[in-house]
Amino acid sequence: MNRSDFHDFDHQAVLNWYDERGRDFPWRRRWPELAPAYHVFLSEFMLQQTGVKTVIPYFLHFTQKWPDIFALAAADIDEVLADWAGLGYYARARNMHKTAKVVASEYHGEFPEDEKALRALPGIGPYTAGAILRFAFDQPAIVLDGNIERVLVRFGDIHKPVAEIKPLLREAFATISPAHRHADFPQALMDLASTVCQPKSAHCSVCPLEKGCRAAQTPHPENLPLKARPKTQPLRYGRAYLITSAAGHFVMHRRDANGLLGGMLGFPSAGWDKTSQLDAAFEPVVEQAVVIGTISHVFTHFKTEVTIYHLHLEQPDTFPLPPSYHWAEDKPSDWPKLMQKCRSVLKS
Ligand code: ADE
Repeated sequence: MNRSDFHDFDHQAVLNWYDERGRDFPWRRRWPELAPAYHVFLSEFMLQQTGVKTVIPYFLHFTQKWPDIFALAAADIDEVLADWAGLGYYARARNMHKTAKVVASEYHGEFPEDEKALRALPGIGPYTAGAILRFAFDQPAIVLDGNIERVLVRFGDIHKPVAEIKPLLREAFATISPAHRHADFPQALMDLASTVCQPKSAHCSVCPLEKGCRAAQTPHPENLPLKARPKTQPLRYGRAYLITSAAGHFVMHRRDANGLLGGMLGFPSAGWDKTSQLDAAFEPVVEQAVVIGTISHVFTHFKTEVTIYHLHLEQPDTFPLPPSYHWAEDKPSDWPKLMQKCRSVLKS
């Protein structure tokens, strides 16, 4: 494989296909219109590791509640995190909020149109910088996500795991990019990848790239890209305590801002998060609580199995809560997924 393998890539066929069959999303505009940078920024943070269907209602809610970068920058981080609940990966929400503050205060609310400046902002890596430059500013930046990579790898029939050929794919992306409609082109590729050139089925007969695509001439284009050897994920065991009151409240605390699920509400727990220890004040509870089930949860770098204990206190006043803990309402929609799963073990 070398760069010349991409010179017969028919970008016009892809753009024509996009005009007819591309998807509409609330954060998108079509040439000659461009999406507001604030919308691109919000949606791209939400779409990092979360699918479009899940993101749509969150995007609509956030843009209604915080219609511009100044509104988001002024928002209380706890409220942002509560409204982010269900999207997962809370560091994304924290970084999004930090970046909103920097852009509001240091850039007068205007995102910089420059890769280096964008990448200096919290949570913005090469992909997100490229997406903002392309979708909001119509600049010919490099935008490579897993979907676009799949189309390129199949077009070039490249038999190497994607992780080993990143520089080559960046070059290929530059080669195939047309000199106009910079904002539309990567979104056209994303749509082609999601609806035609899908991971398990390539649907070559309806693909505008079928003629030039090397893998389309092979019996099993869906076998590409080759999978990298999977890393075995460590498994951590943990325990969580559901302590309930007659009023239907739960003992919870706001988790340390810098750890896992930072700043989110959590039950007293230990073990699943490498650093968390159960407060010694809970020792009497630990002795009386009974096991009611287990749940599993997958984080980016490890899996966890958490045993759920329950203790009902008819007279909560008899148990003085350690500092930072409080009686919280039964409102799982404000909690991270892991805590929602723990809660669901207790029948209401
Ligand atoms: N994933 C990330 N950005 C996207 C976009 N603009 N459209 C569809 N999927 C995406």
